Amino acid sequence: MRLETDRLVLREFTARDVPAVLAYQVDPRYLRFYPWTQRTRQDVAEFVQMFISQQKQRPRTKFQLAVELKETRQLIGNCGIRMAFANAHQADIGYELAPEQWGCGYATEAARTMLRFGFTELGVHRIWSWCIAENTGSVRVLEKLGMRLEGRLRDNEYFKGRWWDTLQFAILEHEWRAQSSPV
Ligand SMILES: CC(C)(COP(=O)(O)OP(=O)(O)OC[C@H]1O[C@@H](n2cnc3c(N)ncnc32)[C@H](O)[C@@H]1OP(=O)(O)O)[C@@H](O)C(=O)NCCC(=O)NCCS
Repeated sequence: MRLETDRLVLREFTARDVPAVLAYQVDPRYLRFYPWTQRTRQDVAEFVQMFISQQKQRPRTKFQLAVELKETRQLIGNCGIRMAFANAHQADIGYELAPEQWGCGYATEAARTMLRFGFTELGVHRIWSWCIAENTGSVRVLEKLGMRLEGRLRDNEYFKGRWWDTLQFAILEHEWRAQSSPV
């Protein structure tokens, strides 16, 4: 599977992507809102393998794609949509980017095309996501996608010696169509 946006190509992972993923996953800025404190080459090889295995699912329910800059073909992160089981009426999205690339709108651009894929190709009714409440960049991405805040789960995650609130967002198919249709 392959998706294109103005500036990005979203394509299937291969084992050759491990070094590029490792390069950004060891960055403390990246690690801040994850339970992980460090990432080894083995960790990342397993992480990438998980996405390669998704490609063999029949029917396929999970699509986690590598995000590349169209101009340079540099891998800058990943973005995906996942259904819990085949023909589920809902799916969730997730994304991550190398810190050097933050603030350019790439996560929003990648996730926007995933919403389109989810509603038009997977035929789901609802797409949801969640993030750590203090992860301002991720909160903004979900807001910019037109997803609606549905709730705050207090002390819903525990890692790095403390509790973290999480925010739950979602968008319904008719809401997405209303905001995506040309005026
Ligand atoms: C979350 C993440 C994917 C965002 O990627 P990105 O490409 O920077 O996102 P975008 O550029 O599309 O949008 C980010 C928005 O957040 C804003 N933002 C980012 N950090 C911010 C901060 N600390 N305070 C206020 N706003 C912030 C940006 O200004 C931008 O909003 P704007 O377009 O209104 O100016 C990126 O920070 C990341 O990979 N983080 C680590 C992994 C992660 O947390 N993944 C999500 C797990 S839920």
